[in-house]
Amino acid sequence: MTRGVRMSVYAIPVVLVMAFSFAFFIVQTWAAGDAAKGEKVYKANCAVCHGDKGDGKGPGGAALTPKPTDFTSPAGMKGIDDTRLHKSIIEGRPGTAMIGFAKTMSAGDIEDVIAYITTLGGFGKVK
Ligand code: HEC
Repeated sequence: MTRGVRMSVYAIPVVLVMAFSFAFFIVQTWAAGDAAKGEKVYKANCAVCHGDKGDGKGPGGAALTPKPTDFTSPAGMKGIDDTRLHKSIIEGRPGTAMIGFAKTMSAGDIEDVIAYITTLGGFGKVK
């Protein structure tokens, strides 16, 4: 084999892997929202009740019944899947202090804040 042929044999899989990773990255950002941006949205709109760390202990939530959800706790997030996260944040939780954000927040910000909440430790652990 000549040197040139050997190089291209190695180059093909490398290029393929790069192309697939890039495509995967694009699909991920479209579908899942951006957790880093979501953290800013969270701090500005949600932390007052749900706490800076997402543990449900924000100053605005202390006196509430029910208490703001603790996003860091698998037990606290029990039964809250992706569909319910969307519904609760978009429409709110009737009869609670959790208001809907559809009117005050862009769809992109809602996706980003959801992406952030799912990184806090409680999401998806208990069905
Ligand atoms: C005024 C206080 C307050 C603010 C601000 C607030 N929440 Fe809540 N949130 C609550 C309370 C109280 C609950 C508990 C509702 C319940 O138990 O049904 C809750 C529950 C939730 C839940 C769980 C809902 C479910 O299906 O059980 C999610 C998710 C949530 N909040 C997200 C957010 C996000 C995201 C923001 C910011 C964009 C936000 N909250 C801002 C008070 C607040």
